[in-house]
Amino acid sequence: MNIVRTKEEISEICRKWHSENLTVAIVPTMGYLHEGHLSLIRLARQNADRVVVSVFVNPTQFGPGEDFETYPRDEARDTDLCRKEGADAVFMPAPAEMYRSDKSVSLMENRLSKVMCGMSRPTHFNGVLTVVCKLFNITGADCAVFGMKDAQQLAIIKRMVRDLDMPIKIIPAPIVRESDGLAKSSRNTYLSAEERKDAVCLRRALDIAESEWKSGEKNPDEIIHKMADLIKSVRSADIDYISAVDSDTLEAVKELRPGTLVALAVKIGTTRLIDNTVLS
Ligand code: PAJ
Repeated sequence: MNIVRTKEEISEICRKWHSENLTVAIVPTMGYLHEGHLSLIRLARQNADRVVVSVFVNPTQFGPGEDFETYPRDEARDTDLCRKEGADAVFMPAPAEMYRSDKSVSLMENRLSKVMCGMSRPTHFNGVLTVVCKLFNITGADCAVFGMKDAQQLAIIKRMVRDLDMPIKIIPAPIVRESDGLAKSSRNTYLSAEERKDAVCLRRALDIAESEWKSGEKNPDEIIHKMADLIKSVRSADIDYISAVDSDTLEAVKELRPGTLVALAVKIGTTRLIDNTVLS
């Protein structure tokens, strides 16, 4: 497995693979890999001949006062895990390698990034799009795998690929959870033992949405209300948003239907967690 720190080198490796008629998948991550990330690497393996995993804590997607400095990092463990999963290359650039100090061009999305997480993180998705676009350009990958855990991110990346005619296929991957239902996340490490127990309320709230939907509820406000009641009963939990939206446009739905994305962001203590489900 190649461990690569420069754009030039990873581009060269991908160019060589393409010249041998091999297809390339990219799995963008910010590292501190867990089973969720590893499931993406496995899905990438099934969809391409060669797999590049990027590990880059992207400064441009963190707002002022967010956790860029404290975001967990462990390069040695990440490279070991990538090797075990059969990745062909890990791209781990330093911020100065990724971004020129006098950079003056970046991507902006004007609709899907304004709602949900975009309300409290107004610059976040533009930072995500810019780095993801750069990773697509640097590797020339044929496909890229993103987790449905970050449903808004996935929708916005699909929109970028559509609107900018990017020659790449986006492959969504299902959410991987802990045994009690908490979605795996690098940020779960911030939770105290008590908060870790409370954090299961996100999944419990989504369970309510699913069971109400199955018993015939069509009114989004009704389920959002019931979800909110449950979360409000948890001491350390503070709701950022609960939304029922179309999973492609992220527009609020007036009536629940199959494919509706029910998503929420909740602060557990100081840790902001997100989760979602797509109604079947
Ligand atoms: P990160 O949070 O490290 O997540 C990398 C990828 O793993 C994303 O596609 C995310 O949706 C997926 N993922 C995380 N937890 C998951 C889980 N429990 N189940 C399934 N997939 C999961 O998302 C980012 O990094 C960054 O914004 C990035 C796209 C790399 C751009 O910097």
